[in-house]
Amino acid sequence: MTITAAKFRSDYRAPEFLIQSIDLTFELDEQCTRVTSRMRVVPQQQSAMLRLHGEHLSLQTVIINGDALSSDEYVVSDKYLEIRQVPDSPFELVITNTINPAANTALEGLYKSGGAFCTQCEAEGFRRITYYLDRPDVLAEFTTTIIANKQDYPYLLSNGNNVEQGNNNDGTHWVKWHDPHPKPAYLFALVAGDFDVLKDTFRTRTGRDVSLELFVDKGNLKQAEYAMLSLKNAMRWDEQRFNLEYDLDIYMIVAVDFFNMGAMENKGLNVFNSRYVLADAKTATDQDFLNVESVIGHEYFHNWTGNRITCRDWFQLSLKEGLTVFRDQEFSSDLGSRSVNRIDAIRIMRTHQFNEDASPMAHPIRPDKVVEMNNFYTVTVYNKGAEVIRMLHTLLGEGGFQKGMRLYVERHDGQAVTCDDFVAAMADANQADLQTFKRWYSQAGTPTVRVEQVYDEHTQTLTLNFSQTTPPTPGQATKLPVHIPVLLSAYSKEGEKLTLVSNQLREHESGSTLFEFTEAQATVVIPNLPERPVVALLENFSAPIKLDAVQSFTDNLVLLSHADQEVSRWEAAQHIYVKLICDAVAQQSPLVLPESVAEAFTKFAQANVDPALKSFVFTPPTVEEIAEYYSTEIPLDAIFTAVQELRQQLAAKLFDVFKGVWDARNIAEYQLTGAEIGQRSWLHTSLYYIALHAPAQYSAVVAEYYHQADNMTAQQSALQIAVHLQLSCQQQLLDAFEKQWQDTPLVLDKWFAIQSSAPQPEVVERVAELQQHAKFDRNNPNRQYALMASFGRNMTQFHRQDGAGYRMTSAMIRYLNDKNPQVAARLVTPLTQWRRFDSHRQQLLKAELEQLQKIPNLATDLDEKISQSLATN
Ligand code: TRP
Ligand code: ZN
Repeated sequence: MTITAAKFRSDYRAPEFLIQSIDLTFELDEQCTRVTSRMRVVPQQQSAMLRLHGEHLSLQTVIINGDALSSDEYVVSDKYLEIRQVPDSPFELVITNTINPAANTALEGLYKSGGAFCTQCEAEGFRRITYYLDRPDVLAEFTTTIIANKQDYPYLLSNGNNVEQGNNNDGTHWVKWHDPHPKPAYLFALVAGDFDVLKDTFRTRTGRDVSLELFVDKGNLKQAEYAMLSLKNAMRWDEQRFNLEYDLDIYMIVAVDFFNMGAMENKGLNVFNSRYVLADAKTATDQDFLNVESVIGHEYFHNWTGNRITCRDWFQLSLKEGLTVFRDQEFSSDLGSRSVNRIDAIRIMRTHQFNEDASPMAHPIRPDKVVEMNNFYTVTVYNKGAEVIRMLHTLLGEGGFQKGMRLYVERHDGQAVTCDDFVAAMADANQADLQTFKRWYSQAGTPTVRVEQVYDEHTQTLTLNFSQTTPPTPGQATKLPVHIPVLLSAYSKEGEKLTLVSNQLREHESGSTLFEFTEAQATVVIPNLPERPVVALLENFSAPIKLDAVQSFTDNLVLLSHADQEVSRWEAAQHIYVKLICDAVAQQSPLVLPESVAEAFTKFAQANVDPALKSFVFTPPTVEEIAEYYSTEIPLDAIFTAVQELRQQLAAKLFDVFKGVWDARNIAEYQLTGAEIGQRSWLHTSLYYIALHAPAQYSAVVAEYYHQADNMTAQQSALQIAVHLQLSCQQQLLDAFEKQWQDTPLVLDKWFAIQSSAPQPEVVERVAELQQHAKFDRNNPNRQYALMASFGRNMTQFHRQDGAGYRMTSAMIRYLNDKNPQVAARLVTPLTQWRRFDSHRQQLLKAELEQLQKIPNLATDLDEKISQSLATN
């Protein structure tokens, strides 16, 4: 059972040994790579037993201060190497072992991706390379020598600086790397292979030249240019906004096709999933380009927030991830559209994070209990973590936040620290009391904030009654109130901004007014308001909560047309949609778009507004997002119907508007500017609606647009419209796309994903067929995410009444259990939420989970999630 395997945050103990330096030698071979590790070990206490982590390794020799140990002087198990007797003073430990990279399909440790060797060590992958103290609070100086056949592996890379290299006369060559910055083992990296290299330099603000090298598969050089540009932008931005400069003479990025996650911030040698490096207009959409920029930024920003200052233990993961996501969001917002970035982030929170926070795997951003660390690289740790950092930024302001960052770096550079240390730096630098705020780190679940507005004409006062509750989550039955920054603004009926003056409110640098809500309940009284104002609440999504506030369509329409901030205008539209959908579901009646709403939306669509915002406003919430308004018995089918009806009514009532946008299209050569991205997005939204309203008439139009497209944004949009609306051209476009892109895996992923996310009932059968497609490599994570993870998010079809979606998914999980448990565990998520559905689906889901639980050698990744889901607490 998982209970015994669980680790608890409260059990943290400082290490009994430190490792000052490690000198590694790799003799690379596909099936049998030999690793020699020479360590200087420094005992922290007398006569402790030395227990090193090690998994999937063959041990050869153990030598202490020059003396080889005999096999009765140590114990090797499938998890550890234990040496009972070691010196009390610092000693040299040399270990030799072998590993089999070719057999490594889990993609943790040293493995082969295509023709290249590469590593992935976070969180606990270094122990699959050699025996070591594989924990983030053991920081060592690394030296790495790599020996390999020169023909196949002309590039031999590791962290730090290349200090020596040479040729041997047996066809092999070697390179020695030295990283002067002590680091935990999870930041170690090694790459060996043959690549094309894109080179550039960056001059830091203190005038040092840093060599930048981007390694891609041969022939892909052109597609690496945007990533290089993004890297230079990230380096400059971190100097300007955060005062942080790069600290080595070289920064390398390697793109690989087999990778479980997005990318990895290994010191001086990032390894990237190729989907976050390769991009050109023909193969990448606007969104793909933006993702490249943000992931390149993210990994670069880790150099300070993660590498120079790292985590004491893995429970502190959000220390580096929440903060670094916040930093990459700010980077993208400073370079591109702040509103677009904010709306994207809010949508991720409302669809995916709220869902996770209501699931059996709900956990605080700093978890208390972990069985498999790989299961905690979550939207909660990353994205809710970033929202928590953003709340600190809102409370302290940019100036106060930067003061806190400076103190954090000054205090902790070179250390492995905790989330408490981070909050303490923020508090101390600003003389702020963040005691209540810290509950955001310890409590799971999404708080609901109820706001009641009462306007009194006689006293001309507005009273806002606030109350908050956080639902119970596994292991946390009761919750305390959290510190919630509520940004708000008020307008007259005519849309003029009003000034709110009250001793409970303060002006905020964003232009909104700030109320700090710290108790279970609070009443805010705002005097001097001659008429009832229209209030925009929780502006800019100032806290990761669910807002429960009754507001009329009229009020929301005032905000849609007049609110200062684009995000508030978008929110007003979302509130209207949510109310329309939830009312239709509750009343079991068809959804009707009121005339007043249709009129206001028509005006908005024709107003002089950023087209990107228009496109967002005409994107109603998804089924998944609406599902989060129901805790049990999610009325899936009714939600689906209501969302469809809403889209159909928008299409019908605004047909002329959308057709106008389409007819006025002006398709120039593809350019990747904010303005052009916005235009394309609005054009494609309009095309979707006219095709939805008049499919027979517009099928040929969509097909023609597809065939004329010179860029992937247009191609993908047209294909998605054709498939999701089942236009008569759909098969023709699918065939054309497949033919054109069959040899470009990252593009073919779009073809898989569009089909598996389609709302029609035959999708289950279609996905089953696609699993047999020659280009569907089930051992490649990107293929699985494109086909199977997209299918798992396709709520209505995944949960098809007959359970076929469940069976197909669990068959794939079964296959992946011993091939790649990390990917298997990502696919199991949609099965684990059985308690939230009707009894028919509950039975089917539960039965599927119970079958999976019986898999022999069930991976801990799956065991933790399944046990947590079936547990009765
Ligand atoms: N630290 C990486 C990031 O956020 C996360 C990561 C990359 C990862 N690869 C991984 C985590 C494999 C677990 C397993 O940028
Ligand atoms: Zn990260």
